[in-house]
Amino acid sequence: NTYRIAVLVGSLRRDSFNKQLANALAKLAPPDFSLQQCALNDLPLYNQDDDANQAEPVRRLKSEISNAQGVIFVTPEYNRSIPGMLKNAIDNASRPYGQSAFAGKPAGIIGISVGAIGTAIAQQHLRGILGYLDMPTLGQPEVFLQNKEGFFGADGGIGNESSRKFVQGWMDKYAAWVRQHAKM
Ligand code: FNR
Repeated sequence: NTYRIAVLVGSLRRDSFNKQLANALAKLAPPDFSLQQCALNDLPLYNQDDDANQAEPVRRLKSEISNAQGVIFVTPEYNRSIPGMLKNAIDNASRPYGQSAFAGKPAGIIGISVGAIGTAIAQQHLRGILGYLDMPTLGQPEVFLQNKEGFFGADGGIGNESSRKFVQGWMDKYAAWVRQHAKM
């Protein structure tokens, strides 16, 4: 059995550190885990008028999440919260009322910033959202990463050994969390 994990990255930037972090995470996952990044760049701005007739990219995102056993959010912090595009993706996939793709899916949160507090405030905001969405969310360890020269290695992994071990520890805890909470 493979655990499929939908990965939502909160940045569209070509050289996004969070996208790089999501790529590096995939290398740290256990062999029976498959991490798949969901495309969020083509989602419409959420409009409740469209609930009865959701756009194809929204239906695609919802089915990717529904078919997954867990969801990892890899997000930067924008203006002390999560980026609007990530909130928009969450809003789209949480509706219509009663047909959220997220309910019950074990969630993990991780993020990297150029700033010293490493997305801590964005993550705290996201925890409130995921509570409302009824997602059991891993509490510890919290991972607040600051990008510095050499953080990512030439192979796309985490270049700094202590950071790699720390993120590996998070990945192991999240995998155990999914095994505990996932409905297979
Ligand atoms: C930022 N950045 C930022 N950093 C932070 O630590 N706290 C913050 O509140 C903000 N606010 C913010 C707002 C906006 C609109 C932008 C564009 C940037 C800086 C941010 O950490 C940096 O741009 C990261 O590189 C963004 O992540 P990606 O795109 O590299 O994944």
